[in-house]
Formats: sequence, structure tokens, C-alpha cells
Amino acid sequence: MPHTPRQEQDETASAPAPRHLSRRRLLLALAGAAALSAVAAGAGRVLAAPPPPGARTGRPVPARLSERVRTLVAQLTLDEKTTLLHGATDPAGLGQAGYVPGVPRLGIPPLRLADGPAGVRVARRATALPAPVMLAAAFDPALARAYGQVIGHEGRALGQDVLLAPMVNLIRTPYAGRNFETFAEDPLLSADLVAEEVRGIQAEGLVATVKHLALNNQERDRMSVDVRAAEQTLHETELRGFEAAVAAGAGSVMAAYNKIDGVHATENSALLTEVLRELWGFEGWVMSDWGAVHSTVAALTAGCDMEMPGGAYYGAALRRAVDDGRIGHDVVDTAVARFLAVRERFGLLDEGADRPTRDAAAGARLALRVATAGATLLRNEAGTLPLTGRAARSIAVIGPTGAVPLVSGGGSAHVVPDGATSPLDALRARAGDGATVTYALGEDLYGKPLPPTVPSRDLDAVDVAAAGTWHHEGTLTATEDDDWSFFVHYSGKRPVVTLDGVELFPVKAGVAEFFAGGLGGRAADGLALRRADRRLAAGPHTLTVTAQGGATGQLFRLRAATGATRAADRAEAVAAARAARSVVLFAYEDASEGRDRTGLALPGRQEDLIAAVSAANPRTTVVLNTSSAVTMPWLDGTAAVLQMYYPGQEGAAATAAVLFGDADPGGRLTQTFPASEDRHPTAGDPVRYPGKDGIEEYGEGVHVGYRWYDANDVTPLFPFGHGLSYTRFLYADLRVAPAGDGLDVGFTVINTGTRTGVEVAQVYLGPSPDLAALGVDQPSRLLAGYRRLELSPGGRRRVTVRVAARTLSSWDPARHGWILGTGRRELRVGSSSRAFRLGTETRVGTP
Ligand code: BGC
Repeated sequence: MPHTPRQEQDETASAPAPRHLSRRRLLLALAGAAALSAVAAGAGRVLAAPPPPGARTGRPVPARLSERVRTLVAQLTLDEKTTLLHGATDPAGLGQAGYVPGVPRLGIPPLRLADGPAGVRVARRATALPAPVMLAAAFDPALARAYGQVIGHEGRALGQDVLLAPMVNLIRTPYAGRNFETFAEDPLLSADLVAEEVRGIQAEGLVATVKHLALNNQERDRMSVDVRAAEQTLHETELRGFEAAVAAGAGSVMAAYNKIDGVHATENSALLTEVLRELWGFEGWVMSDWGAVHSTVAALTAGCDMEMPGGAYYGAALRRAVDDGRIGHDVVDTAVARFLAVRERFGLLDEGADRPTRDAAAGARLALRVATAGATLLRNEAGTLPLTGRAARSIAVIGPTGAVPLVSGGGSAHVVPDGATSPLDALRARAGDGATVTYALGEDLYGKPLPPTVPSRDLDAVDVAAAGTWHHEGTLTATEDDDWSFFVHYSGKRPVVTLDGVELFPVKAGVAEFFAGGLGGRAADGLALRRADRRLAAGPHTLTVTAQGGATGQLFRLRAATGATRAADRAEAVAAARAARSVVLFAYEDASEGRDRTGLALPGRQEDLIAAVSAANPRTTVVLNTSSAVTMPWLDGTAAVLQMYYPGQEGAAATAAVLFGDADPGGRLTQTFPASEDRHPTAGDPVRYPGKDGIEEYGEGVHVGYRWYDANDVTPLFPFGHGLSYTRFLYADLRVAPAGDGLDVGFTVINTGTRTGVEVAQVYLGPSPDLAALGVDQPSRLLAGYRRLELSPGGRRRVTVRVAARTLSSWDPARHGWILGTGRRELRVGSSSRAFRLGTETRVGTP
């Protein structure tokens, strides 16, 4: 993203020691194998790994630095070194987020860094994949690898070297604006997926950047919020995915915007050095999030090797700090060596490395596969879906995103798709010639031409000539007190529109333009779109419009929605619903980086629309194109609800395939859907969310997501792991056997229905009594393993899910290490965190 340039500034103040992650504690953990083993004989067994090679130096360099990298570091001047440690503007203008110039004198080429995570974000078209949250819904690490491979291949083909993805911050609160960009509320699932995606991306030669380390679980106040999470919470929840990415060989890590325990993530040596490098053995380089560096000496010595996207702190300021002796040459050399070592590993130290050509067809195939695999059927009363017989031949499609596909979320995750069919067209194509598929808008996102009483000039298609200025001043008369929505659709520079002297669509400083990349940012024909909602009193209002043609001329239209237009849209939708045998209503929620949602309800008047339409036709299926959980006061009136998230460029085809039963809905929820706004893990306490006086505490501790619902006995709307198939499955013959320090959980799944279908079998584990006796807080149930299976009718499969020792362990804050959760533990197998089919007790560890 663009960032507000900051002043160059020297900063030498050293960061205060973080509360929960102090260096002393970490070193205790690393050094303490002997002390830790004291508990081995009693409750639990310590699994802390010995420190990796190179640890405890404070600034470990990669253990196996090559001769070439050593030589380069010796040859580089200080100026050249600092050039390699921060971003700059790309002279080639490919449109990616970041660029690091090369050093031509030594043959080091430049490096290009593009966002993810749902495809490669550059100025050109690319495969817009389904949002990661939809990938995660498939519970399929192999699919995550394939997803990574498509991005890796495309990134290389599109001139990129580094991908700024995957994002692995946990879904902690349903309000968080980037929940669609990440995977899950569960640490194990997130860890499995991020590891495979990293492997996939990097197998194609693109460096993966796992982001945002750490605790960037919300957008609200993301630049400033100071997050406090206990050491155990950190290791067992948020950090687990990062650790897995490091173990999978991720070349780069992005340090987050927020503070952790009072220290900016980019200055947090406890995290960037002690945990990331010394505990986990990370040998890549750390870059800052865009504009997240706030100091020179504190950040670089803490382990943030690269400032992005500019060089306010790591350019001239760094050179001065070295010259003044405030920072050693060795610190700079270490950062440069880390960066060059990864580049060498990926062949990115040589000019003219081969690049593949794009394989758009392969990208589209994978996009379709993921959108189908992640399609999550939440409700299906009386076999409403799949659509068959009359229900498949007479359909009313309703909703704005039925006609304009909601391909991806907004912000840095927005990818320019190769193309995207609308769900309406896909449903028409699938329903075939004999079918009647009608369409009604229902909820207006673009406005109608202004009522004739309003303008003295036609404002619905204004063409301003190049270099021309167009001005209009008139009176808009509201016939009654009413809620108006104004919309401006425009090319080129945004027209200035004022109502009663107040600008309706002000250009906000900084990031506003960038964040409007999603559904609400563009009209159906591609013109940029802005919206303003105003309550108008009956009577005259002064309207002015000024537009500049600029260099190329401009086109714009000013539109509005009022009570009357809304009522007409609603009536049209209800009439369409009545006239059809079945209804498919597309509901949306348009999330974006940079802001959290302010409520969990569907935006606008969609709730009323769903209620009215489903009252008119009980065979109403709601398709949700939403980023995360929504509340559903309208649920009982509907026949079916299909969660399609942001399904990527092939989303329409996947939606049609699932609605018509060509594919079984293969997704399961990776986050709990709360029944109301006031009963979920971050409800009711501003300290927990969104933070109070700048500080936020992860008061739920290790009980993130479904664990909180279980611990507090709260019934969710839909539990974690939930998702329906079109067929039925039986579970049988549970057997548990030790496998090293882990377990092998065996059971049989049988498809007892009449269709081929997908099941995601899930294994949940209860707490260890031995750890409980030690006072270690544990989830009352946690996901310990899972297996996605496809079975034809009558088909059966014996499944063995390996539960790793780490999953059976807790992070013991008293000993700063992992400790095996021994003793008799409850084990359950089922189809969600609340639907168990088999259960037993098993003994962990030697009796
Ligand atoms: C986002 C990152 C992104 C970067 C570059 C930041 O605002 O937080 O996720 O990679 O911009 O676009």
C-alpha cells in the first residue's frame, strides 16, 4: 500500500523489555534443558528443542553462509548495503507493492515484491484465486500447496521475486477487516495450511513472506494498538502458524504494524530475534510492513532487516548511525547477509534468471477447484439444495452480487482478475435453455438517475472534454424527510460534489483511494464509485458539481437511492421471488484492509430484503459473499444458506456447480459464527477488543475461537468445523494407538447416502489432567487433527489421523517450554467442534 512518507529521523532509544517475552525468560527456556527435565518424571514431559546453531549470539546470521555471500558483503560499500536494506520506487512500474534496487557494480539485480495473498497483485491481470479463508475451508493442506504453486508460478511469470503472503494471523475477532485474507481461528489448521502454501510458492522460485508477525488480528488502530498476550497464549495460538512457516523454509517474514507489550513489532527483539531466530532457527530476512518502521537503531538491532517501502530510517539515517558509531557495521552486515543468503538460495542473485510464461488456464482451473472445495453449506432444510426438477428450472436470482461478481476483498489483497462471469450468467448457463432464470437487484449499490425534480441539468452521463471544466449548480428538492444515498461514478479525477455546501465525496488523505478496491469501489461498468449516505429534510438543497477533464477527459454520473427507489427495488425482488419456484439471493459484505467492520449484520438493508424475499418464497437460498462471520436474524425464514466468501474469478461457476449438485459443497467453517454480537470471544470488554487507551489484552488467553465457546458454554450460530454435504456419513471403529510421543487415531468413515460427497472428519482432544494439576490452562477441547475425504455412495475408508506430540503439548509459562500433556485425555471424532460421532479416552505418555 502507499504509505505516508515519514521524516528521516535518527532514533537510538532502546526498546523497553517486553513484559511477557523477556530475553531473560527466553534464554532460560533455551538453556534450561536440564532444569526442564526435572518435570519429566512427574506430570508432563518437556519437549523444548535445544537452541539452533548460531543461537544466542543476539544477531544470528544464517548458519551456512556461502562464500559468495560472504564475498559480496565484503565488497559492498556502506551506501550499497543500505540501498539493499530498504525499498524504493520501481523504475519499471509493474505495479507491485515493493521494490529493492540492485547493485549493478556487483551484478546484484533488483528485487520485486508483490502482494498476495489471493493471487499476484500487479498492474496486470492475474488469476484472482478465492480468498485464503475459502481455501482454508477445504481443510486440505495439499490444496494449499497447489494454491501456493499457482501463485509462485504466476509471480515469477509476472516479473516478481517475492510474494508478500501468506498471512497467518489468527481469526480472533469476527470484526477484523482482514479475516478473509487469513485462514482460521484454529492454530493447528492455520499452521498446516501456511506450511504447505509456503512450500508451494517457493517450489516455483518465488520467496514467500509470512505476515504479519505478530498479533495483527484486527485493522482497527492497527498502526498503534499495543497488544498484550501472555507467553503461553502467544506460543499456543498466534505464533504457531509463523513457527510452521519457518519450519517449512519461508524465506522472509514481515513484521507487523502494531505494538506488542509496548514495543513496536519492528523493534521487538524478543520476537524478531529471540523467538524467530534463536528459538525457531529462522535464517531468512525480516522486512517491515509498509511504513511500520519507527526507528533506525532500535529496529535494525532488534532484527528487522529491511524497511519497506521506502528508506526514511534505513537510508541516510542508517548511514549516519553507522558513521556516528551508534550502530555497528556488523549489524548492517548481518542484515545484508540474511537478505543475500535467501536471494542466493532462490537464484535471485543473478541477472536474467529465467521466468516462466503465465498459465492462465491452470490458474483458472485451480481457482475453480478451491472455490468448490471451500463452498460451505451452512443450512439446507428439506433437501432444498441441490436444485433439481422444477426448482432448477424456475429461479429468481436476487441481489447486486448476483449480477456483479464479488471476486475478492479490498485493500492490498485485491487482484485484477483475468475475467469473471456473474453468478447470474453462470446459473443461466447451467440451468439451460428450457429454464427461466430472472433477475432482480433488491439492494442498490450504484444508485438510480436523480429524480427529474432534482437537476436542472442531466447528471447521469456527463462527458467532460480534456482540459475542460464542467460546473453545475442547482437545487435538489427532497419531497419528504428521507435517507438518501448518493453515488458518483467516474473516470479520471473525482468530481467535487457538494450538498448544502458540504463535500459529499471528499478525497481523504493517505490511503482512502487504495482501500476502495472491493465491491463498493467500482460500478458494474468499471467506473470508480464512491458513496455517501445522508439524511435529508424535506425541501430544497443546494447541489454543486465541478468536474475537471484533465489530460484525457472524464466521464461521470451522479446517482442516488431514496426511500422510494429502495421500495421499488424491494417490491421488484419480492415479485420476482413470488413468480419463481426457487430463489437464489446473493448477499454481500465488502471487507477491506485498513478498517474493521463496525457490526456483524449484513450491511445496508439486506437483512430486510432477505426477510421479505424468503417470506414471499420459502424456497430461498442465501448465498453469502462475505469475509467472515455475519449474524443471521433472518436465518429461520430461509431454506438454505451457502457460504461462498470471496470466491475468486471462477466463483460464479463454482457457485452454480454446488447449487445444482454437480459438486458436493466441500467446505467447513474455520471460524465460529456467533449467534449475536454480544456473545463471542471478543464481545463485551473493550480491553479485549478493540482495546482501551491504546492497549488491548488477549484476555481469552489460549481459548481463542471455538475454545472460548466451549469454555463458556455458549451456543454459536454455527460451530467451527460445521458444513453440510449432500450425502450422509457414518463413523465407526475408533482405535487409538501411541505413535512415538504422539497418537494415531484410526476410524472408519462410510458414505451411507446416495451421492458422492465430501466429509471433513475432525479429531478433538480434551485437556491433560497432569498439566491441569500443574496449573497449566488448557482448552476444554482442541482440534488435534482432521482428514478431508471424498467417498462415493456406499464407499468406506479407514482413516488414520496422526496427532503430533506438539499438539498434545502446552507451552508451560513457568518453564518457558513445551510440555507434553500426559495422562488420560478425552478424544472425540466428528463433523464439527459440536457434532461428535465417536469418542473414547486415551492415555498420553507412559503410564
Ligand atoms: C499490508 C501488507 C501488505 C503491504 C504492501 C500493508 O498495508 O498490511 O499486508 O503486504 O501493505 O502492500
